[in-house]
Amino acid sequence: MRLFKKRILLGITGSIAAYKSAELVRLLVKEGADVKVVMTKSAHDFVTPLTLGTLSKNPVLTAFSDPISGSWNNHVELGLWADALIIAPISANTLAKLVGGRCDDLLTAVYLSARCPVFLAPAMDLDMFAHPSTTQNISTLISFGNRIIGPDSGELASGLSGAGRMVEPAEICSYIIKSLAPEPILAGKKVLISAGPTREAIDPVRYISNHSSGKMGVALAEEFAMRGALVTLVAGPGVMMPKHRDIKIFKVVSAQQMLDACSEAFVNSDIAIMAAAVADYTPLDPANQKIKKSSEQHSLALKKTTDILEKMGKSKLKTQFLVGFALETENELNNAIAKLERKNLDLIVLNSMRDAGAGFNSESNKITIIDKNKAVTEFELKTKKEVASDIADKIISCLSK
Ligand code: CTP
Repeated sequence: MRLFKKRILLGITGSIAAYKSAELVRLLVKEGADVKVVMTKSAHDFVTPLTLGTLSKNPVLTAFSDPISGSWNNHVELGLWADALIIAPISANTLAKLVGGRCDDLLTAVYLSARCPVFLAPAMDLDMFAHPSTTQNISTLISFGNRIIGPDSGELASGLSGAGRMVEPAEICSYIIKSLAPEPILAGKKVLISAGPTREAIDPVRYISNHSSGKMGVALAEEFAMRGALVTLVAGPGVMMPKHRDIKIFKVVSAQQMLDACSEAFVNSDIAIMAAAVADYTPLDPANQKIKKSSEQHSLALKKTTDILEKMGKSKLKTQFLVGFALETENELNNAIAKLERKNLDLIVLNSMRDAGAGFNSESNKITIIDKNKAVTEFELKTKKEVASDIADKIISCLSK
């Protein structure tokens, strides 16, 4: 009953995934929520109001007025009533309408009136999802403060395979539970997360860097913000920044800038997770002008950068919880344990470059977590969002002991 007495408006739009919304209603009701369903006209082609009304135990709302009873479905009242508005599935068409603030049906009018958190779970075919119009619409809706759930990748109703599947109802339900009932242990906690690569200038036009996309760090920032923490994200270049009220972003380029930003934020942090792939070496003497090609060979003198994580480990207070990452290609477990000890960490998250589907720039990751007592927990290959959730669960369980 984790959603006991929570008032949830579930919007359903015209997408084949609408059949899954019946299951979502059932799960939300099972968790104790009071669910009212609002359907668009085209949603009726995929699922019936009778099914949704029976499962939600509330009349299903589809229009501004009911011509038979003569009653008016007041969109303003509905918007104010809700603790959360979920639109699942949301079609490409309704996404576009929300961006423009159009309100030619009950659902879009409720959206404009709602003051509660809004969760959108897109479902459409892969090319519709990949279209720049949709990508831009989703970015705009995130910038308005809406939370986007998914979509997942897999086989689609068209027979094609790719991103566009609505996230499974059980996963949507747990996302809502986490968002509406923040983890008490994380509420108001300050979490520092580093993400992405750094760039070390060789001269004004060239640099040394690595393939990190920052996706893991961003997924962690979103996960902790969703669970009620106040997140500071220090992100290197090229990272797709999340948009969330409780994520403060510092953009940095070099290892030195990352060190400065992290050191400042760490002093006030309760938890620090260093997921960035910081350059271990930087040019000793970067040239002020572009280096000309003259000789057949060119050597570059490098000096070590400060290990940010190690520095934090040295200054960490008993009340602070420090998490590092280890990317290894051989002797993984032993190397990770050595890093955990050397850097005085509470947890280390090991990624092996040997695991297919894991590592730099991929959507998925396969991790092993090792705690201070050297207890090892191995996880399956999962999406970075799921991995972030596993890491958050592990940190919470350590903090709860
Ligand atoms: N890290 C850091 N500052 C650095 C280098 C690394 O904060 N200058 C952090 C990373 O964010 C990560 C952890 O240290 O959490 C592990 O980084 P990794 O490069 O795998 O390990 P190193 O300690 O640099 O050891 P090695 O390169 O020998 O594997």
